[in-house]
Amino acid sequence: MKRIVFLAVVLAALMAQATVTPLYLDETAPLEQRIDDLLPRLTLDEKLAIIHAQSKFSSAGVPRLGIPTFWTDDGPHGVRPDVLWDEWEQAGATNDSCVAFPALTCLAATWNPAMAHRYGVALGEEARYRGKDMILGPGVNIYRTPLNGRNFEYMGEDPYLASIMVVPYVQGLQSQGVAACVKHYALNNNELFRHTTNVIIDDRALHEIYLPAFKAAVQQGHAWGIMGAYNLYKNIHNCHNPYLLNDILKRDWGFDGVVVSDWGGAHDTEQAIRYGLDLEFGTWTNGLSEGARNAYDNYYLALPYKRLIEQGKYTTRELDEKVRRVLRLFMRTTLRDYRPRGSMCSADHYDAARTIAGEGIVLLQNKGGVLPIDTRRVRRVLVVGENAIKMMTVGGGSSSLKVQREVLPLDGLKARLQRDGIEVDYARGYVGDTTGAYNGVTTGQNLVDHRTPAQLIDDAVSKARQADAVVFFGGLNKSNHQDAEEYDREDYGLPYGQNEVIEALAKANKNLVVVNISGNAVAMPWRDRVPAIVQGWFIGSEAGNALADVLVGDVNPSGKLPFTWPERLQDVGAHAVGDYPGTKRTGEDIWDEEYREGLYVGYRWVDKAKTRPAFAFGHGLSYTTFTLGKAVVSSNHITAADSLTVTVPVTNTGSCAGAEVVQLYVRDVKSSMPRPAKELKGFKKVYLQPGQTAQVSITIGRDALSYYDDTRHQWVAEPGDFELLLGTASDRLPVKAKFTLE
Ligand code: BGC
Repeated sequence: MKRIVFLAVVLAALMAQATVTPLYLDETAPLEQRIDDLLPRLTLDEKLAIIHAQSKFSSAGVPRLGIPTFWTDDGPHGVRPDVLWDEWEQAGATNDSCVAFPALTCLAATWNPAMAHRYGVALGEEARYRGKDMILGPGVNIYRTPLNGRNFEYMGEDPYLASIMVVPYVQGLQSQGVAACVKHYALNNNELFRHTTNVIIDDRALHEIYLPAFKAAVQQGHAWGIMGAYNLYKNIHNCHNPYLLNDILKRDWGFDGVVVSDWGGAHDTEQAIRYGLDLEFGTWTNGLSEGARNAYDNYYLALPYKRLIEQGKYTTRELDEKVRRVLRLFMRTTLRDYRPRGSMCSADHYDAARTIAGEGIVLLQNKGGVLPIDTRRVRRVLVVGENAIKMMTVGGGSSSLKVQREVLPLDGLKARLQRDGIEVDYARGYVGDTTGAYNGVTTGQNLVDHRTPAQLIDDAVSKARQADAVVFFGGLNKSNHQDAEEYDREDYGLPYGQNEVIEALAKANKNLVVVNISGNAVAMPWRDRVPAIVQGWFIGSEAGNALADVLVGDVNPSGKLPFTWPERLQDVGAHAVGDYPGTKRTGEDIWDEEYREGLYVGYRWVDKAKTRPAFAFGHGLSYTTFTLGKAVVSSNHITAADSLTVTVPVTNTGSCAGAEVVQLYVRDVKSSMPRPAKELKGFKKVYLQPGQTAQVSITIGRDALSYYDDTRHQWVAEPGDFELLLGTASDRLPVKAKFTLE
């Protein structure tokens, strides 16, 4: 009997030992202890393998220890279709057609953080279903010039708005176990010469304008990844930049995630070792361009790094720091016992895309109540323009998508109007770019039309004369030098002779609506002759439905511009006094670009230079009207430690339900340092029935009053008088309140 008991005890002990989980896999243990356990188990080669790419979008795991391959993918508006292991061409998968969500300018235009959270969750679900561990997005580079080809991927000109919107996107995405990779850190504000631009900027503008959204993504969103930008700052590339990465991001902000290089953004092994890069990805870096079989071994953080360690030039101190960060990323994603499985092309994702678009579309102008289209009175509607029939999800660079479906503006509007028995006709108006392909994804559309511009205009005009209302869909597209990566726009005007078409239509029919599809502002010389103007963005899969919702009034528009819409390019600080696109150094392929306008970006420049934009930052109309009452502040005297709440009643004074964004700007009445005349420091979107009033309260803290002191390198709130300006656009702030900071 004793022997049996003894044997049973031994057996139980052996079984217990056999099933002991290594500490690094024990999710109940503290994260850092798990990393401490895992790190020494890796060989030098395994450590090096996980800090650089092994294919276009993946990096190696540690197969020996059961750590899976790590998969990234673009970003930021939908999950990019799968490409070949080593090439940009399509892998030919038949299960990678996604939902395209509205581009980030549209998301920012919702001024609704709940929309950003829904966006992040839906995108995360699509990413999980496709087996992706990191999405290369969101983008939060500041809108400095309307010529930047990539503005559509970003969240506008204001650091506060971008900060508030990026945080829930990151949180929503990461709630699905998918890492965000916030990009492009930092100062990547134009595409022209993006690999060779060296930005010269003062510390205040850097900290007050260009960094806050990244900081919020890190400190409030707890982003697990940041992508270094292609350009240079202080003469050193941003993918291994000691100031931006080691000092600001990792030391000052306490970032514990992974710095990923933009694809091919690393340039030097020793800089990459020392200056903050953790995970190197590439496109044309050594090896790949030479077609070597061991291409990825030639990455800066691969064999060249190993050689330096073997030669004794470096210990594994820096390497272990990078590996620690990458392992932390694995623990947050691929090493989790349970991650949501995700879902793709679900009804909920289409609904998210349509709802976000509906909240982001901006009604810029609406004279004489041309909009919404009165479906009881109007019998014949003419739709004009290439952008009514052109797919916009293909093209534009790395954010190009392969969609399961994309409802075109003409189709969406036609379907909606025909429900009410309205006849819809179409005229082309102009021919822009009829191509539609990116990395092997083609739209399959044949948009070729050989008629001359005059014939196209004649046709559109004669049809317009017969119609009760005309809706023109134009703007930009995703072709090079429009809204596209790698190229900036070449001028501010609309391309393809669209101005002539619009002018002719305005003469032919007084009920003209222009819907501008773009991620950027464009010149509108015909603005006074066109009663209704809508900013329609690039809104993805549900474009046609969402635009129809707003045009007929099924959805009451509530979008607000996330950037200033200048009348002319010279009214933009970067063009008036800045150095766009920089000055080429003699004998060197470097463009020094000085941000001479400093803090004065967007509406800050408008206030300083006293220009009048076509449409102000924060502007956006509704089919109803709102009035704001008197503001009440919680206290007239506060100390730096206090917060302050301002409350203002908002009433829907019109006849239909709608949403308004109450915007709060702060003005430092007297300051020892130059400061912008006002800065956005709070906002809230409220939904109101006709006649309904809501009390909107916005609380601000010391940060809302501070500027960055570049001599002390800290944020300072100077005692004195402050003014609060409240209203519904940066140029419509009728409500004022005052307080004093002791
Ligand atoms: C872009 C990034 C993108 C990466 C991978 C780069 O050229 O700048 O935004 O995530 O390619 O496609």
